[in-house]
Amino acid sequence: MTKRVAVIGAGPSGLAQLRAFQSAASKGADTPEIVCFESQADWGGLWNYTWRTGLDEYGEPVHCSMYRYLWSNGPKEGLEFADYTFEEHFGKAIASYPPRAVLFDYIKGRVEKADVRRSIRFRTPVRWVEYDDQKGNFRLVAHDLVNDKEINEIFDHVVVASGHFSTPNVPQFEGFEAFNGRVLHAHDFRDALEFKGKNILIIGTSYSAEDIGSQCWKYGCKSVTISHRTAPMGYNWPDNWSEVPLLQRVEKNTAHFKDGTSKDVDAIILCTGYQHHFPFMASNLQLRTANRLATADLYKGVAWVHNPKLFYLGMQDQWYTFNMFDAQAWYVRDVIMGRIEVPSKGTMVADVEARVAAEDALEDDYGAIRYQGAYTGELIAETDYPSFDIEGANEAFFQWKKHKKENIMGFRDNGYKSVMTGTMAPKHHTPWVEALDDSLESYLQVKPSAAAE
Ligand SMILES: Cc1cc2nc3c(=O)[nH]c(=O)nc-3n(C[C@H](O)[C@H](O)[C@H](O)COP(=O)(O)OP(=O)(O)OC[C@H]3O[C@@H](n4cnc5c(N)ncnc54)[C@H](O)[C@@H]3O)c2cc1C
Ligand SMILES: NC(=O)c1ccc[n+]([C@@H]2O[C@H](COP(=O)([O-])OP(=O)(O)OC[C@H]3O[C@@H](n4cnc5c(N)ncnc54)[C@H](OP(=O)(O)O)[C@@H]3O)[C@@H](O)[C@H]2O)c1
Repeated sequence: MTKRVAVIGAGPSGLAQLRAFQSAASKGADTPEIVCFESQADWGGLWNYTWRTGLDEYGEPVHCSMYRYLWSNGPKEGLEFADYTFEEHFGKAIASYPPRAVLFDYIKGRVEKADVRRSIRFRTPVRWVEYDDQKGNFRLVAHDLVNDKEINEIFDHVVVASGHFSTPNVPQFEGFEAFNGRVLHAHDFRDALEFKGKNILIIGTSYSAEDIGSQCWKYGCKSVTISHRTAPMGYNWPDNWSEVPLLQRVEKNTAHFKDGTSKDVDAIILCTGYQHHFPFMASNLQLRTANRLATADLYKGVAWVHNPKLFYLGMQDQWYTFNMFDAQAWYVRDVIMGRIEVPSKGTMVADVEARVAAEDALEDDYGAIRYQGAYTGELIAETDYPSFDIEGANEAFFQWKKHKKENIMGFRDNGYKSVMTGTMAPKHHTPWVEALDDSLESYLQVKPSAAAE
């Protein structure tokens, strides 16, 4: 009997899984029946932007954590699909830090070409997955929101690709309840213009803090104060920025920090990260891990060590993204199709322990980039996913870090060489600080004056 595989989520990871099976089928392999469940009305995961926050029109939690004017925060040369290049999609080379709409278009292009949309059931959130030890299969319950019908089906394998940057981690600080302004988490941030002319306080020092602060600055906020728990980011920020120790309490509009200083602010944005959250998985199948490179309980970063018929994709903290999800999806496909055999539980657990220890021994971000690049390469070497120059991709990340140190508001004006095509990215027609229109049309157009040169 044909095996049945459930894929939960049609974001970049879930779509990589669909593309992996379609690629094998296109080469003549006998592939399992794939059913992808997606709670949103369209594919693309986080890249599928919505203005909505909180609950959607069906009362479902809004998945989107992205916002208007978001541009890639890392070079596209680090995430390019090895089987579908930017040049193939856009018909020309494009600059290295595309806005969200451009990356969304690129993600869609590959799966449109692969014609996998019909395996996705949209507006169908998965509510429950449990494993039947006797029968050796999974029972999956989902909700067809449009027809308000429960779906109850049996699968041989489950691939969880539901993402982990959507359920916010929201700490409490003294005085929030009496603060005379807006307190929000980055997950609910949508338009920097809301904060034009305002003094904003940001809690956290990672990518959301850096990028949301930069957006607000670019679109005219009055000042940015960034409060850190561990250490300041230390970039050469514009004059109206300051970095302060952790917030202690808020009194009316005054924020008080650990070093005794204070600042009057109009809004507080919690850029305090996200939770791995899988309420739809039975507790014995639920991944419980920190946001790190070596996730708990996943052999080769994907196979659930307690039952390797279950897989999780993209659950790592991410330097590499799209092509790492591909490496994982091709590997998972080959395990499901019996081309790769997973070892005994003891060996799988030892694999996880070794990965955790190797990550713990890393000294800095450069080591972390090399580590995730090597992991991506390791999986690719075991499948027929096209191999690419990982060292070259690492190098794009290293250059990115250097460029951020040199100019945090100008790093997106740099370009890097594609490791897939060897083409050097052209310069974008407008410096990032001046590019207020983030639409695909604006990004792809050739500036008339530039065309004449
Ligand atoms: C603000 C922000 C900006 C980012 N910017 C970049 C960037 O510039 N470059 C980069 O490479 N990466 C970026 N990322 C990282 C991002 O995690 C990846 O690019 C990518 O979106 C991860 O893909 P995914 O498929 O694993 O998860 P997601 O994109 O989160 O997709 C998961 C999908 O699963 C669906 N789903 C969830 N639960 C269920 C359920 N129970 N039933 C059915 N469907 C479900 C969701 O609706 C969603 O469509 C960013 C992340 C955030 C939060
Ligand atoms: N333009 C873009 O492309 C873009 C923009 C935004 C985000 N992203 C992506 O989104 C993902 C998530 O990034 P993220 O920055 O939201 O999360 P993150 O990387 O997990 O960082 C969480 C931050 O919150 C802080 N924090 C957590 N709990 C706290 C508490 N109780 N008090 C104070 N600080 C606390 C952490 O501080 P400690 O260091 O002290 O732990 C850390 O600085 C990343 O993959 C990133 O690349 C991309």
